Amino acid sequence: MIGIEQYTRRLLRDYHPIIAANRAPVDLSSNEGEPARFVRGGGGLVTGLAAFAQATGAVWVASVRDGFEAEFDLGAEGEPMQIDTADGSRFQISWVSPPRLAHDMHYNTIANPLLWFVQHYLWNLAQAPVLDASTRRAWDDGYRRVNQMFAAQVVREARRGRKRPLVLSHDYQLYVLPRLVRRELTDAVIHHFVHIPWPTPQYWKVLPQYMRDDIMDGLLAADIVGLQTSSDVRNFLLTCEENMGLPVDFRQQTAFYRGRTVWVRNYPISIDVRGFERSAASPAVERAEREILRWRPEHLIYRVDRMDLSKNIIRGFYAFERLLEAHSEWRTRVTFWAMLQKTRQNVPEYRDYARQVQQVVRLINQRYATAEWQPIRLELRDDMERAIAGYKQFDVLLVNPIYDGMNLVAKEGMTVNRRGGMLVLSENAGTHEELGEWAITINPFEVDATAEALHKALVMDPIERHTRAEKMRAVVQQNDIARWISAQLQDIRDLLEPTAARRPDLLQETI
Ligand code: G6P
Repeated sequence: MIGIEQYTRRLLRDYHPIIAANRAPVDLSSNEGEPARFVRGGGGLVTGLAAFAQATGAVWVASVRDGFEAEFDLGAEGEPMQIDTADGSRFQISWVSPPRLAHDMHYNTIANPLLWFVQHYLWNLAQAPVLDASTRRAWDDGYRRVNQMFAAQVVREARRGRKRPLVLSHDYQLYVLPRLVRRELTDAVIHHFVHIPWPTPQYWKVLPQYMRDDIMDGLLAADIVGLQTSSDVRNFLLTCEENMGLPVDFRQQTAFYRGRTVWVRNYPISIDVRGFERSAASPAVERAEREILRWRPEHLIYRVDRMDLSKNIIRGFYAFERLLEAHSEWRTRVTFWAMLQKTRQNVPEYRDYARQVQQVVRLINQRYATAEWQPIRLELRDDMERAIAGYKQFDVLLVNPIYDGMNLVAKEGMTVNRRGGMLVLSENAGTHEELGEWAITINPFEVDATAEALHKALVMDPIERHTRAEKMRAVVQQNDIARWISAQLQDIRDLLEPTAARRPDLLQETI
């Protein structure tokens, strides 16, 4: 396989790459008494894309989120701003600054919860969602408006360069952007990647038709639509066929729309394995590890997550409680350590969920704690170094999402753990397509079965544990972030460049 450097060099010779993603790769963090400083942002999208942005120096068009404006000067409108983070990364960011109300409707009414909930099957449909005229307003004046602002910035950035624009747009916050950009830049190559699951055509019908049509019309203006897994690709093509009546080719993975061919491909996102291993060996992580060694019990079950409903945190705790009931020998010998970060707190469902999670932990701890032992250790903090130290220390990593686009926690954890730690993995996480063969698979809704999976992981013979962990580590090493990036760049070259496009027979050989 050609290395990522060669791909990016070739790419930069021919194209002017521009990233558009709602979330910036940086966050402002400040400890009391210290000036605010930029740090790497969180979430799967940033983790995956940051390596590409750095390798290419591509401008990243991102939204200024609540609280940012007060802290720093955005610079001249549309001018990319160079930002160096505390860990030595450098990004060129072009900020989009939507009015507060438009941002609120975009982020807090449409993107999270509505689209996020639909795409993770989170609605209890007997009760929610209730969609009305205010939904339509939020769509037009919030979602579409913010997408227009992003598109204008992308177009402005594209026109500053002399090469053919390559627009890499991302995720559910920007579904209508490809169409808006295509109207202005007819010759641009547009690649839109969706980081979260793509549900069935039937489930999309929870959304009103105007929204569904806008989403598909927006996305199908791209040249390539990238998704995480093969089942996402299938669902996407089925959605084109069933909800839009479009001709699709499941073998070639293409849809035909408005006289154009759109390629629909899966590229499982991953992590920067070498970079991650370097972080794991850093003095800060080793310091955190020493602190953990002071309190860790004989056995440690671990999870790291944003406190998102899709992560299925409460059923994870119920399963742990069942484990303590069914196998009382584990009491006092195993602790479940959960490192959770509050997220999207302006959305009521997320606020309620955070409350419920803490309540369940309190109840279980009250019920089972002894003078020396607390069953669940809940830490609400966003601390990458501590999270990595936990990865090195776990005996069992619980990744039990209801549905998840990929889940990089599983990949990160299996990369740096050296204790033969075992992965208990939901069959509905995208990463199950890669790691499922070696992990212990669970149905995330079955709490007794999850408890048995935890037990099986805890008692597994050490040789088997190490063998399985080694296999998983090898899979992640092979499919690391460089592969994610180069597979997409290779498709841009092979599928879209004129000679290849005229000779479909050649495509078979190069894909
Ligand atoms: C997931 C989504 C990203 C999102 C991230 C964090 O990884 O796919 O698009 O950025 O979660 O969520 P937030 O709402 O904080 O950006």
